[in-house]
Amino acid sequence: MQQDMIVILDLGSKENTLIARDIRALGVYTEIHPHDISAEALAALPNVKGIILNGGPNRVVDGAAIDAGSAVYESGIPLLAVDHSAKKADASLKSWPADEAGRREAERAFVFDTCKAQANWNMENFIADQIELIRQQVGDKKVLLALSGGVDSSVVAALLIRAIGDQLTCVHVNHGLLRKGEPEQVVEVFRNQLGANLIYVDAVDRFLDKLAGVADPEAKRKIIGAEFIRVFEEEARKLGGSAEGGIEFLGQGTIYPDIVESGTKTAKMVKSHHNVGGLPEDLKFELVEPLKMLFKDEVRACGVALGLPDSMVYRQPFPGPGLGVRCLGAITRDRLEALREADAILRDEFDKAGLRGKVWQYFTVVPDFKSTGVRDNARCFEWPVIIRAVNTVDAMTATVEQVAWPVLLKITDRILADVKGVNRVLYDLSPKPVATIEWE
Ligand code: XMP
Repeated sequence: MQQDMIVILDLGSKENTLIARDIRALGVYTEIHPHDISAEALAALPNVKGIILNGGPNRVVDGAAIDAGSAVYESGIPLLAVDHSAKKADASLKSWPADEAGRREAERAFVFDTCKAQANWNMENFIADQIELIRQQVGDKKVLLALSGGVDSSVVAALLIRAIGDQLTCVHVNHGLLRKGEPEQVVEVFRNQLGANLIYVDAVDRFLDKLAGVADPEAKRKIIGAEFIRVFEEEARKLGGSAEGGIEFLGQGTIYPDIVESGTKTAKMVKSHHNVGGLPEDLKFELVEPLKMLFKDEVRACGVALGLPDSMVYRQPFPGPGLGVRCLGAITRDRLEALREADAILRDEFDKAGLRGKVWQYFTVVPDFKSTGVRDNARCFEWPVIIRAVNTVDAMTATVEQVAWPVLLKITDRILADVKGVNRVLYDLSPKPVATIEWE
């Protein structure tokens, strides 16, 4: 690893991630570590040029003030202490300047003037380093990857293909709840363009049969999750688990926020992350997680650098249960098709209006009731399509996008003309809270 690093010690401040991102934006690599990092762990980190002790109101845990261990103070590495009565820091700041420009200048001065770090963090170096690390970890063994077609799994796949070529096997499970064109795109990009070993599993009937008649949203989620693991496990067994001398590694699209959010010593567990959790005990894999130090925008930049199409890299977030939680109540095939078609029209019109990448998440929902309409001079009784478009930072709260009226009318015209079984289009005006982003 060639690049210089600034270490941010976690004393419980919510700003750690912001600072880590700011400094990476200056071209210098950063990592966030626990405040009580040991001398050995600190010494094992390559090219550490500076340490930031970021305090703040959360640095008191269970009534006691927490501080970095002596390893940090004795390391001889330049320190910047913010909102923290550091014992003997070389450089210290009482608090971050209130404005963003001031904060960035303080970070810049510390990183370049005090630490003399080089701005050598970039995607090209990251990819080169990771290729080397993956090859060291995997040797001549095989790696299995569940490739959903989402941003993270797609970028991991592209990186692993670069690093180990056909030692990688990707499994794409089509559960019938993906958006229009997605399974085809995965096959086209990974099998045809990148030459990957790709196993395409058509599990559409299997999933839809299991879901038939199930109306409760949580029951639907459980079925989809459990069935996915079952299908993936079957494929893994066919390829031979580690016990049979087959595949020993499992690639995963874990990214840095997953790790930061899973809780450090000072923060409560925000949520526990499990990507392909739930695989049975006897299928033991060692994980390969080359994106685990990247933020989402860096994962996208990595995907672009590896040649993935924009439509894959700049996808909006899509829930694991997919269209299954947007086809409300008990899923039927005809209503699912109406949903998929309406969603494709919505995405197409948002693209044409330049809204892709600007609106955080937008999709359609089809409820399981019908209303009266007139079609070809006759009464018709058909489903409505609900459009939802929201903006958010962390998905905990969300505001409604004020989509221009002509865009909505165009989408409505197309849905009413082309989507079978739909006679009404509605726009959901509800912020989160009280409404959640998804309807189920
Ligand atoms: P809600 O509906 O809770 O959604 O406001 C917040 C964000 O989470 C996504 N979401 C899910 N993602 N599995 C997922 O992987 C799920 O079961 C699930 N439910 C909601 C939702 O799309 C939104 O981005």
